[in-house]
Amino acid sequence: MTPEAPYSLENCLELDRVDPLAGFRNKFAFAASGNIHFDANSMGAMTKDAPDRVHRLLTKNWRDKSRRSWSTEDWLEKPRKLGASISHMIGANSQDVVVCDNTTINLFKIISYAWKLRGSGNAILTEAHNFPTDMHVAQGFLKFLEDLGVAGHIIKAETREQVVDKLDRNVALLYLTQTDYRSSERWDLSEMNRRAHAVDALTIWDLSHSAGALNIDLMGTGSDFAVGCGYKYLCGGPGGPAYLFINPEHQGKSWPTIAGWMGHAHWDKFSSDFEPAANVAGHLTGTPQVVANEIFSAAADIWSKVQRADVADKHQSLTETLIGILEQECSPLGVGINSPKLYQKRGGHVSFSHAGAGQVCEALVDHGLISSFRFPNSIRLGLSPLYHNHEDVWKAVQIIKDVLFQEAWQHPKYENVSM
Ligand SMILES: Cc1ncc(COP(=O)(O)O)c(C=O)c1O
Repeated sequence: MTPEAPYSLENCLELDRVDPLAGFRNKFAFAASGNIHFDANSMGAMTKDAPDRVHRLLTKNWRDKSRRSWSTEDWLEKPRKLGASISHMIGANSQDVVVCDNTTINLFKIISYAWKLRGSGNAILTEAHNFPTDMHVAQGFLKFLEDLGVAGHIIKAETREQVVDKLDRNVALLYLTQTDYRSSERWDLSEMNRRAHAVDALTIWDLSHSAGALNIDLMGTGSDFAVGCGYKYLCGGPGGPAYLFINPEHQGKSWPTIAGWMGHAHWDKFSSDFEPAANVAGHLTGTPQVVANEIFSAAADIWSKVQRADVADKHQSLTETLIGILEQECSPLGVGINSPKLYQKRGGHVSFSHAGAGQVCEALVDHGLISSFRFPNSIRLGLSPLYHNHEDVWKAVQIIKDVLFQEAWQHPKYENVSM
């Protein structure tokens, strides 16, 4: 699928006719309003199966069987099963991923575990403008070390060039979000893993704005650790659990930071003494989020039926079409593309700028397009290869064009900008 300029509704429809993933759209439920939701980077769509599955769980399992469901259902197996179902989407082996907790907690578990496995350095190298929770977890971990009298510090690089320049033997952990949550600029996993390993540093990747859209190959690129949100492109549901990957080379080298009973090698024996599972499951903590996991399972069933390369091909086609149509239709109206134009340098979403971005974003909601605003002047559009198509892209850009051309966004009611 290679979209070509000039763009028209007809060539969008033609791209949709030859889309091998077209059938998956029917597995998702969409808003009754008919609004186009280009917010897969923030919250993926609801699977059609999710409500029935949750209803069944609440009635047939919780209400009717209550405690017995712990043994008749796979509730306690879900973190491993879900991890296995999405593992191919991040290029990991099925036994090396678990789905549990949230990204923040998984970041802390991983950063503290990886620290013990570090080579020469005592610094955590990251981007100064990494996502807030990534920064806070690193800062909190270093404060914890400091309180214990252990030396460690953070290096905050202002630019990507600085990240590369500062990567030397003082660095213990290279700690990055692969896709920037504002611009969508993407790091090359292979290159950065290679650079980190050359100075004896380990890599921790936050894949929140990548997995479910891009062709990520954690094993093939030699990545050490990764985490990410389940509720974005992966459609795990609001507040759904996150995933955690540990390269087998690093598994079982030390205790997990949170030694919980679900991470015990023989948790079903109820031993009082902790013995960590030697694999990634050692990093499970307590009772799984049963209801949230059921919602995620509906999406995981879909993920287990798709190939990562097909997903990435469609994502490339959708986002290239989006950038092409935005430029063709909206450049004269003050729109600029913030994200890299080269696909290999771009992550999940496409971000564009406009002087009135906050108000434009609010006006778009009223006109049928859901996007998200990021200070100071950008609007992010997150497209899912599973349930969006090129026709959506055409229609969405026509909405943007109308709102800008009519100057609808200038209305005072759009002055209160939400995030
Ligand atoms: C890059 C990144 N990491 C982490 C998070 C959030 O983590 P949590 O699910 O723990 O709130 C977000 C949320 O948008 C994010 O963009």
